[in-house]
Amino acid sequence: MFARLYRRAPSVESLPWHRDQPPTLLEHAVARRSTCGRALDLGCGQGVHAVYLAQQGFTVVAVDFVAAALAAARERAEQAGVEVEFRERDVVDYTASSPFDVVLDSGCLHHLPKGKVSAYRRRLDEWLVPGGDYVLVHFAHRPRIWIPNGPRHMTRDEAVALFSPLELEEHDETYFDVPLPMGRMRAGVYWFHRPGTEAGRASDWSRLANRPGDGQRR
Ligand SMILES: C[S@@+](CC[C@H](N)C(=O)[O-])C[C@H]1O[C@@H](n2cnc3c(N)ncnc32)[C@H](O)[C@@H]1O
Repeated sequence: MFARLYRRAPSVESLPWHRDQPPTLLEHAVARRSTCGRALDLGCGQGVHAVYLAQQGFTVVAVDFVAAALAAARERAEQAGVEVEFRERDVVDYTASSPFDVVLDSGCLHHLPKGKVSAYRRRLDEWLVPGGDYVLVHFAHRPRIWIPNGPRHMTRDEAVALFSPLELEEHDETYFDVPLPMGRMRAGVYWFHRPGTEAGRASDWSRLANRPGDGQRR
């Protein structure tokens, strides 16, 4: 489905989820961190948020399973003059040699088949370092009509339960005007923090392991 959407779009900027700015709660999470370190963008699409994170000083890995999305994201990173490591694969198959300080998922998880959600949740524990921040944008209600393999939705309580023991720092809502049959969609925006000390920062982990992390600049 996504490959078709990218192929048919007159430009990536015309895609319904495109925003010029990162989610506000991602900005809040970044602003509160005392250091940058490593960041992971899951389902990075056209790369707006991966580029933002690289511009803030993070070493960024961005994952998407659509080649056209990654091509657009690469171009965006080049134009911005930042380095991002792009990986073409299904997010649940992505393993990193060292974890991340910040993990972002803007609009990817709600498209995962239900059977993959628990694998994603387990992966998050591998991806996110103790003391790390996880920012999620996820549809909060069903589309008006049933869509085969359509996106899932999650209430705030369900999100808190799914990601426990991560702690919810802030919650917000946003809207996407998606073409029919979906129409206007409300999404929850979540900033979760993984309890732990900054002593366990991802950058320290990769240094202690004395091996290059996946996110190291090429
Ligand atoms: C709604 S778009 C959001 C793109 C970008 N994160 C943004 O906010 O602009 C969802 C993106 O996730 C990607 N995606 C969906 N499911 C995926 C999966 N299982 N593995 C990797 N990428 C996935 C799609 O190809 C698409 O680029």
